[in-house]
Amino acid sequence: MEIFLDTANIAEITEAGSWGVLSGVTTNPTLIAAEGKEFFPTIKEICAAVKGPVSAEVIATEAAGMVKEAVELAALATNVVVKIPLITEGLKAIHQLAGRGVATNATLIFSTNQALLAARAGASYVSPFVGRLDDVGHDGVELVAEIAEVFEQHSLRTRIIAGSVRHPLHVVQAARAGAHIATIPFAVLKKMVSHPLTDLGVARFIEDWKKAGLGPVLGG
Ligand code: E4P
Repeated sequence: MEIFLDTANIAEITEAGSWGVLSGVTTNPTLIAAEGKEFFPTIKEICAAVKGPVSAEVIATEAAGMVKEAVELAALATNVVVKIPLITEGLKAIHQLAGRGVATNATLIFSTNQALLAARAGASYVSPFVGRLDDVGHDGVELVAEIAEVFEQHSLRTRIIAGSVRHPLHVVQAARAGAHIATIPFAVLKKMVSHPLTDLGVARFIEDWKKAGLGPVLGG
């Protein structure tokens, strides 16, 4: 499973990129707003900071407006993927954009039928929102598993991005459920790295090395 960062923050993208684990970035209007910077320049900056696909979301809610925004976004960089909410107008837009060769990410997916429709309309990605489903008492990971099963069974090539990831366990569960990608907030990504036994182990090795008088700890 590939790792995307769910952020519009350049410092987070640069840091996660330096770890060698990053395959792409997803943003949404909330994440862009949190940065307090202009939309198009921010997307352009993110696209330059990461090699893989960068999802940028449209604001329009009718197909013609979505397509217009999508074409403007796609012109910013070759790695832009246009995020379109899965409403009826969104399906129309996804279909039109597929015909024009514009990559799309069908977002705000909360059912397998929505994912199936998005795939049939020509979406490059679907984004089931795991955490938001959990919040309302449904099993978000189970949705990812069901979509993965249906896509596999019917040879649908649309890739599944597990979104709305809230904690490291969601990442493991999404990977096991067959998500192709998990898009992860930086705070969760940092938690995935750390384990108290690893920190303890490192401290103990250094201590033992010093006790044995084996010379200076290089880089320590
Ligand atoms: C995914 O593409 C979305 O940007 C994101 O994961 C939404 O997550 P949230 O429910 O934490 O806002």
